[in-house]
Amino acid sequence: MTQTQPLDHLLPDSNSVLVRGGTLVRPTGSTPGDVRIEDGRITAAGGSLEPADGEALVDATGLLVLPGLIDPQVHFREPGNEQKEDLASGSAAALAGGVAAFMEMPNTKPATTTAEAIADKFERAAGRCGADHSFFVGATAENADQLGELENSPGCAGVKIFMGSSTGNLLIPDDATLERVLRSGTRRVTVHSEDEHILQANYRAIEPGTPVTRHNHVRSVEAAVRSTTRLLDLVEKTGRRAHLLHVSTGDEIELVKERDLGDLVTVELTPNHLFLFAPECYELHGSWAQMNPPVRERRHRDALRRAAADGTATCIGSDHAPHTAEEKDRPYPQAPSGIPGVQTTLALLLTAVRDGWLQLEDIPRLCNAGPAKVYGIANKGALEPGYDGDLTLIDPSIRGPLRDDWLLSRSRANPFIGRPLAGLPVGVFVRGRLAAGREGLALAGRPLEFATSA
Ligand code: DOR
Repeated sequence: MTQTQPLDHLLPDSNSVLVRGGTLVRPTGSTPGDVRIEDGRITAAGGSLEPADGEALVDATGLLVLPGLIDPQVHFREPGNEQKEDLASGSAAALAGGVAAFMEMPNTKPATTTAEAIADKFERAAGRCGADHSFFVGATAENADQLGELENSPGCAGVKIFMGSSTGNLLIPDDATLERVLRSGTRRVTVHSEDEHILQANYRAIEPGTPVTRHNHVRSVEAAVRSTTRLLDLVEKTGRRAHLLHVSTGDEIELVKERDLGDLVTVELTPNHLFLFAPECYELHGSWAQMNPPVRERRHRDALRRAAADGTATCIGSDHAPHTAEEKDRPYPQAPSGIPGVQTTLALLLTAVRDGWLQLEDIPRLCNAGPAKVYGIANKGALEPGYDGDLTLIDPSIRGPLRDDWLLSRSRANPFIGRPLAGLPVGVFVRGRLAAGREGLALAGRPLEFATSA
């Protein structure tokens, strides 16, 4: 038995598609209803719709219908490290996981730091990605003064800042350069917040034989909190909006609430920090659970779960970060940090709904409306007329363990293999086309568009 029943046989070759009989899941509630997509746009959503002549019909009886998920944080490794992942394999994994659009990070090889490098990624994606897509530009001391221009390159997602070093060589370790970056440009910047000085001191102190269970002490809570404090100070000073990626500590959640900077600061969480905790994750999965910032103790996981449920967090992004098995087998700290996740985010969130700490309606809030609002993505993020015809169809009855042969990423180092499922995506529409989660089908993904005011 395959884990999902792909809807390939329903591949509608029509400009008009009627998805009938499903349950529409919106942040405001879930209701039975049909969705019509014409020429790539939703023209009706809700109630019972009569089929029109020549319209392709998709039977969604028993299925949940969400807006096509947007994953606002993935690392697909092209150019430079295609043995870990490339844009085609990453996009195929995204679609299989119910993700209709992805936003990719700039720490490739070379890093995406120029207009040419951004354009090169779009050229590579054309005809090889079924999912719609966008690419971030990385901030460096060298390009800091050009970022205002670079962030407005066609399709660009905005500026990514690494305050602490991770995979690749992008780094803005000091406040003076960070302030220059924040004063260059107007769109919301997106930030990996760990204090480089604390990280360096802690890495220098590692003794031979130190196990991966020490990872969350090496990349300490203090490093995360210190960095986020510095960032919030500069955000307040400059008035530049910032999006905090993969927040890993309950302390930073408290900090964001205390500082109360309103829309200036938004928060993103990853499934890794929501579903794993230390030291158990390192004892069970070794370096497969190693990422930056690290997965921490249960009290942090629980605080992050509350932040996901109570609206403190705006987005969930996978931080899909594939590495080869050979690299992951190296001893700590040589094994690279990163966990693949673009295909498993939705499956995991469905288990959170089953387990009762998230509502079904939180999924489109965190995975559609959230990313669309944070980044000002045009025409996506809602199941409403006028929006792109992006739909994620979920079969909530699929059970059994999450199977490794379902995964399409080049990296199989996924610590969530074996988790008991509570439903899985079975089909994704991208602007009205059924884009099955495998290479070779419907590779007509397009660059995302952004509202200029965002
Ligand atoms: O664990 C991580 N892996 N954190 C990052 O910030 C980068 C990512 C990667 O690209 O491998």
